Amino acid sequence: MIRRAIYPGSFDPLTCGHLDIIARACPMFDEVVVAVLVNPNKVAMFSIEERVAIIRDVVAASAAKLTARIVVDTFGGLLADYAQQQQAQAVIRGIRAISDYDYEQQLALMNRRLAPKVETVFLLSAQEYSYLSSRLVKEVFTYGGNIDGLVPALVIEKMKEKIQQGVS
Ligand code: PNS
Repeated sequence: MIRRAIYPGSFDPLTCGHLDIIARACPMFDEVVVAVLVNPNKVAMFSIEERVAIIRDVVAASAAKLTARIVVDTFGGLLADYAQQQQAQAVIRGIRAISDYDYEQQLALMNRRLAPKVETVFLLSAQEYSYLSSRLVKEVFTYGGNIDGLVPALVIEKMKEKIQQGVS
């Protein structure tokens, strides 16, 4: 049986913090499924298709440091249902600071109630990304701040295109 983990999130957009967590999960699993949540109620900078395409491109460019098989997928509805459908043993969540913990514990315990066999694995992000979030990256970029090194170069390109199209 292959060891499969789901790494779920909004990924609007993928940051270097996300990529760091994917790389940290690799030695523990044969396959890591990066699963983008389809949430029609949330206003996003990038469409689901754009987010998936960005993640696929960045993963392909980072293949040397990603030692597990990386699959990029989308899901809607409950994460617990999706994880079970995928026959995953684990859900990966990155923890940046203690402030993330309360919410992540709630998610993990609710998911455990719904899918008792799926374990949540918390991975500590690199310290240099401990303040990083997709939301802050978008805000800083929208007001002209420098986000080099916080998101992959491809993401900066795509964000520039969005700003040119008048989307933020
Ligand atoms: O990157 P995010 O936005 O912090 O990811 C949150 C995510 C996608 C993990 C969470 O919102 C989720 O799992 N949503 C799916 C719906 C669900 O299962 N809700 C109950 C969680 S206990």
